[in-house]
Amino acid sequence: MKIGVLTGGGDVPGLNQAIRGCVLQALEYGWDVIGFIDGWKGLIENLATPLSLTDVEDLMDKGGTIIGTSRTNPYKVDNGVEKVLENIKRLNIDGIVAMGGDDTLGVANRLYKEHKVKVVGVPKTMDNDLSATDYTFGFDSSVTLAVNAAEVLKDSGKSHHRIMVLEVMGRHAGWVALFTALASGADWVLVPEEKVNLDKIYTHLRKVYQRKKTALVIVSEGIEIPGMKVEKEELDQFGHMILKKRAVGDMVGELIEKNLNVSTRVSVIGHMQRGGSPTVFDRMLGLRTGVKAVQLIKENKFGYMAALKGMEIIGIELEQAVGKLKTVPQQWIQLAMTLFK
Ligand code: F6P
Repeated sequence: MKIGVLTGGGDVPGLNQAIRGCVLQALEYGWDVIGFIDGWKGLIENLATPLSLTDVEDLMDKGGTIIGTSRTNPYKVDNGVEKVLENIKRLNIDGIVAMGGDDTLGVANRLYKEHKVKVVGVPKTMDNDLSATDYTFGFDSSVTLAVNAAEVLKDSGKSHHRIMVLEVMGRHAGWVALFTALASGADWVLVPEEKVNLDKIYTHLRKVYQRKKTALVIVSEGIEIPGMKVEKEELDQFGHMILKKRAVGDMVGELIEKNLNVSTRVSVIGHMQRGGSPTVFDRMLGLRTGVKAVQLIKENKFGYMAALKGMEIIGIELEQAVGKLKTVPQQWIQLAMTLFK
């Protein structure tokens, strides 16, 4: 047997550990493994590299992905799907492990449904917005980095009696912002799921500032600010806005400074949130989902994904995971409101 592994979408800590889990389980079965370079692009362009024990054994503390990633969508490339099918045949691939979020796994699901491609999924995204799994690896590590940044900002804010604003990634789900705010003891959070109410924010921050002479606000990159025009963004091959030029954190900072008349500073953590060594949680989740994906291939459970349910890693149909983003529900927002005093 020969299987191929690919990683698609944004890199996250946990991917290398998942690749490691995959290769070690495959070796246990006596199978060969190759890595497709840069996600679906590798399968379209026939870019592959063998993955052996020596390639993966030292990966437990390494961030990123050793086989590279891209946001290439075979359905948006000329003859992309045909090329994928040809290369699977040419390389005699008996199963593919696709690691990614909604986009990468959406392609996996389509290839499975439309062309019977023998593919299984491993869920990853720092945004934690994939349905049908309790958590995706990458989330815990990126939130941990954002919490560290928030804590550093609190020190500076306290010293200068300023309001500090931290913009975090997360796309159209507020999980990263919410967890960063709650875990760092911030004073407010703005998430895409909740309509921004500027008057409510000003009133709350005035109260906080009177008491502490500082405040910390966490802003998710995907929010819309009433009355503010954000610059038009280019779209990626999956039709998503890239969000990098929106500068919503700056806008929020300016509004707070103007309306409260308090010195305010804005920081954007950006891609620093996606790098570095994974947390123990992400190492374990990556490793275990990687192993499970290869077990799913062994069981002929193509069209399935390794998902975390409670403490267990189980197989669930890809269909259940893709197409509907897992966004922050009201009870989490209520919890935040209870904690902001
Ligand atoms: O989906 C993961 C993510 O990190 C988002 O939070 C962010 O908006 C996006 O990727 C950034 O993408 P890129 O690395 O292509 O700039």
